[in-house]
Amino acid sequence: MGRTIIISNRLPVKIQKDKDDNLVFKPSEGGLATGLGSIYKEGDNVWIGWPGMYFKNKEEQKEVEAELEKENMRGVSLTPEEIKLYYEGFSNETLWPTFHYFNQYALYKKSYWQAYEKVNKKFCEAVLKVARDGDTIWVHDYQLLLLPDLIRKELPHVSIGFFLHIPFPSFEVFRLLPWRRQLLDGVLGSDLIGFHTYDDMRHFLSAVSRISYISNQNGQITKDGRTVVIDAFPMGIDYDKYSNSAASPGTLSREVAYRTSLGDQKLMLSIDRLDYSKGIPARLQIFDLFLEKYPQYQGKVSLMMVVVPSRDKVGKYKDLKQEVDLLVGRINGKYGTVNWTPLHYFYRSFPLEDLSAFYRMADVGLVTPMRDGMNLVCKEFVASKLDQTGVLILSEMAGASKELSEAIIVNPNDKHQVRDAIKQALEMPQDEQVKHMEIMQATIKKFNIHHWVNLFMSRLNDVHDKQLKMSTKLLDDKIEKSMMKDFEKSDCRLLMLDYDGTLTSFTGNPEDARPDDELVELIGKLAEDDRNKVLVISGRDKDTLQKWLGDLNVEFVAEHGVWARRIDEGWMMTDSLDNSWKEDIRPILEIYVNKTPGSLLEEKDFSLVWHYRRVETGLGELRAREIISHMKYLAVNMNLQVLEGNKVVEVKNLEVNKGKAASKWLEYYDTDFVFAIGDDWTDEDTFKAVPQEAYTVKVGDRRSAARFSVNDTKDVRRLLRQMAESKSPVKADKS
Ligand code: UDP
Ligand code: G6P
Repeated sequence: MGRTIIISNRLPVKIQKDKDDNLVFKPSEGGLATGLGSIYKEGDNVWIGWPGMYFKNKEEQKEVEAELEKENMRGVSLTPEEIKLYYEGFSNETLWPTFHYFNQYALYKKSYWQAYEKVNKKFCEAVLKVARDGDTIWVHDYQLLLLPDLIRKELPHVSIGFFLHIPFPSFEVFRLLPWRRQLLDGVLGSDLIGFHTYDDMRHFLSAVSRISYISNQNGQITKDGRTVVIDAFPMGIDYDKYSNSAASPGTLSREVAYRTSLGDQKLMLSIDRLDYSKGIPARLQIFDLFLEKYPQYQGKVSLMMVVVPSRDKVGKYKDLKQEVDLLVGRINGKYGTVNWTPLHYFYRSFPLEDLSAFYRMADVGLVTPMRDGMNLVCKEFVASKLDQTGVLILSEMAGASKELSEAIIVNPNDKHQVRDAIKQALEMPQDEQVKHMEIMQATIKKFNIHHWVNLFMSRLNDVHDKQLKMSTKLLDDKIEKSMMKDFEKSDCRLLMLDYDGTLTSFTGNPEDARPDDELVELIGKLAEDDRNKVLVISGRDKDTLQKWLGDLNVEFVAEHGVWARRIDEGWMMTDSLDNSWKEDIRPILEIYVNKTPGSLLEEKDFSLVWHYRRVETGLGELRAREIISHMKYLAVNMNLQVLEGNKVVEVKNLEVNKGKAASKWLEYYDTDFVFAIGDDWTDEDTFKAVPQEAYTVKVGDRRSAARFSVNDTKDVRRLLRQMAESKSPVKADKS
């Protein structure tokens, strides 16, 4: 097993100089660093990121690099200008607000984008310096969306995972970004893309479908012939670290000290980075509403609010700081008494033992972000509750709410609901608290950070293995020679040939793909030899195949298996198929024809096909996506399949596919050589249906269940020509 190289904008530590000019390592803020910080050191993994300081000179840089190396880290040094434009700018003034649905805060500046591109390239160079064959690359978060594809271009076969720690917004919001296409292309360089929740994943797939025109099949998409898997992996915490810390003597002594000074009152706790996505001002207003509506709690309950400084050079964060300071002052001024402070507000970070003491002491955890990818604070609160008392109030806008359904789930915009939830939490009987806490603890104990890493990594390995399997071997001279040897030895050869994209290239108009003289002559010659059973196996309708190749001594499967024609027989319908679904589906497709100039509806015997070859580029793809999602929804109940071909969307009965037809042909003949060739995913069914030793050949890209691949139709014709002109003698006993 190779190493894992983790890459994130920030290293899990930030380096500062103290007043005596000594280097001090401090833990970085935020869920990404605290979540992964405790596990990355396993094996000889490496973490690459920004160390959080600017270097005065080369010596200083060297000194820091040496220190980092001891801890398995590599620094990417960034200039003040890069930090301003790439980090504060594009990452935190463009992407962060957009992805958190604060798009009215987003700035769209070209200089930010250019710096983002440049710094992503800088990270790529840092990766290339350490990456070796067999390593697994794991890129983290929105600051590095372009990095997977940059690495892919340099190391095409390396395994690359990407995880987004923040929400992925709905397509309608994501589309606002001027660089949306480049951002998607960047991240699609990965093999596996992970999100915290199913909704984030769904939004991402919809953006890929609407912007890059790539559809998905059960969360898998194909980009430039490569499979990319998209899935949800809700991130967990290091459960034991928090529960052990909650039991440590250091924590207990701090708790006693704080409890003594607070006196006998109930305590609510919130801990966040200073960020508008965390809903801090709204939480303060809610606390005000609570004290006003339920005055019996004045003097009886306080809110302890830890706000960790974050991104304080960014305008919106500065404004927020002022707003929070003002609100805290106003509430304390309004309600405070000589022996009661309603709000204990700390604008700084605390070491783990203090945080653990706060978690232990709090009767209520108040976690009410407006949007949060996951939110680890609420999980840490739960893990620290060793006696299982305490109540969690959790915003439904946090990814964690999908797992912690035993919390009191609230909409942070509904201030009255949250106000009343506070009362409910403070009054909840102890046995009920324990009941909920027990269930939540069991969940986060099981789905802890180790589980998360293992799940992601083993999935990434699976995807990589699958890709290796799907990556067919180019049919080189050696294989070609051995195939021809087998061909020549054999005396019953089944040759299954797809038509469009295999025997002929694609044309703008399907009618123009009629066979040229060379092809007719070639297939005719191939079929002259009795030992060759030539089967043209196509999605085309039977009349076209009949018109184009019907005079030759070949057999046909048309419409992916609806119709078939054997030598010396007429066309036969393969199965008795139900066609009644057409009455329901036709009117829907006609609506799409009417609203898409240039598109047309073709009615085949057992399928309906929407063609968009002549539709304006972009519009056709967009409509195709709409039709596919519309049809897939109906398909489930109607036993239909929706096939996507080159500029066509075809709806047909689920029972029909080329694989079923191919199996029948294998029964008709006692073959000793089977050859199947095709270019699109309908041919995959044929490849899977034939015996393993058969010569299966994919035309075009190399991701396929076929054993071999060739580049284009010219190669196909060359191969068939060799077969047609092979002078192998007919065996004496068979002649
Ligand atoms: N945290 C910390 N020191 C503090 C306050 C918070 O290390 O003084 C940690 C906290 O324990 C949690 C992380 O910061 O692990 C915040 O992660 P979360 O996912 O809740 O929010 P994010 O900051 O990533 O948006
Ligand atoms: C969130 C982001 C992280 C980021 C952290 C702290 O957790 O998902 O990528 O590192 O906030 O923000 P900062 O800007 O200080 O790195």
